[in-house]
Amino acid sequence: MHQSTPRPLIAARPSGPLVTSHATGLRVPGDKSISHRALMFGALAVGETRITGLLEGEDVLRTAAAMRALGAEVIQDGPIWRVAGRGVGGLVEPSDVLDMGNSGTAARLLSGVLASHPFFSVMTGDASLRARPMRRVTVPLAACGARFTSRDGGRLPLAIEGARDALPLDTTTSVPSAQVKSALLLCGLNAPGLTRVVEREATRDHTENMLRHFGADVSVEVDGHARIITLRGQPELIAADVVVPGDPSSAAFPIVAALLVPGSRVVILGVGLNILRTGLFTTLREMGARLEIRNPRVEGGEKVGDIVAEYTELRAVDVPPERAPSMIDEYPVLAVAAASARGITRMRGLKELRVKESDRLAATAALLQVNGVRVEIEGDDLLVWGDGAAPKGGGHVQTHMDHRLAMSALMLGLSTESPVGIDDASFIDTSFPGFVSLVNGTIGNGGGDALRAA
Ligand code: S3P
Repeated sequence: MHQSTPRPLIAARPSGPLVTSHATGLRVPGDKSISHRALMFGALAVGETRITGLLEGEDVLRTAAAMRALGAEVIQDGPIWRVAGRGVGGLVEPSDVLDMGNSGTAARLLSGVLASHPFFSVMTGDASLRARPMRRVTVPLAACGARFTSRDGGRLPLAIEGARDALPLDTTTSVPSAQVKSALLLCGLNAPGLTRVVEREATRDHTENMLRHFGADVSVEVDGHARIITLRGQPELIAADVVVPGDPSSAAFPIVAALLVPGSRVVILGVGLNILRTGLFTTLREMGARLEIRNPRVEGGEKVGDIVAEYTELRAVDVPPERAPSMIDEYPVLAVAAASARGITRMRGLKELRVKESDRLAATAALLQVNGVRVEIEGDDLLVWGDGAAPKGGGHVQTHMDHRLAMSALMLGLSTESPVGIDDASFIDTSFPGFVSLVNGTIGNGGGDALRAA
């Protein structure tokens, strides 16, 4: 689990391009959202769920530990994770505090599960997670009969007294958040009757897909941008095999690096292409990126494909606010790409970025500013000026316990005139174990240590 010693790192222009052979390509770790859900659904199903391609990052390992503490058997068996579930409503009171580390997804989704289990539990996390808002889930979940006690501002540690006979929820989510939607649906699993969740803007639908995959009765009605999700409570979830695709949010980093480093061409195999996750790829294409999807297919109920990204001179774009949910985790790395594009890129409607692992809106602006890029925050929009050439670089970036800021800053440093330093690379392990060696391994001409200890 997470070490508290910071790991400063430096990224310098590599001596060669980033390249992978078409036959072997590279694989990024499993999708974080799907990995958390697979473990939780496995624990709530009857029988043994086998998960292939699980992200073995710290965030997901926290979920695995929590499901064990709640009575499920979770075993790593080589490349397969086996979960022996306890059935809907069958989890047991944990004997200690559940520590969710850096993971907002784990904390939010688990609040929903625990709200409709009739026992007492306490959740905490690291300094980043303890600063994040939880009321967005606890307020609507309380309607099922659960009681939540937290620190001031609804922050962790959070004590939960789960409802004895949970009532089904009928709610519209207050923010466009798949975490909130999923918490409400997971709560509804152990409430009789119909749970209804309305979201005004569509967010990633991995929970809905997995509910179906495990045999629950769930329907989704599309009404313009909105979705109405109805779940019949207290189903018998049947254990199912889950194949976790590569995480598109992780693939984003080597893709942007390839677009920025002249002569590069990388192939990334088996990346998840759920339409509610691919806003970055749409945006990069609008910027002129040479980005191709090969072998589109469906694996384990999710769309998957191989991505080929090649160096391109990018142009600025205006990213509409309605695209935000489909690329919410990708704005820091898009901002890095925008800094090398020609023109002013405007990313609109980024309010939710303020409550991620860090205030990502402010931190992304600071990341670019210390490296000689002109940026402005106007309301909830981020503006980045690029002149079609690589930025100056030479800055030292504060990553605020945020893995995506760390990886974005390092990708910037691969193209800048002077190297870019970061204060701490250790949080990268929450979502992308092996990131440094994977990126260094793609650098041709024997220049494989562009990312190195500072
Ligand atoms: C996630 C949803 C997103 C995303 C997070 C994973 C999920 O958060 O930022 O990394 O797995 O549901 P919000 O739903 O709060 O936007």
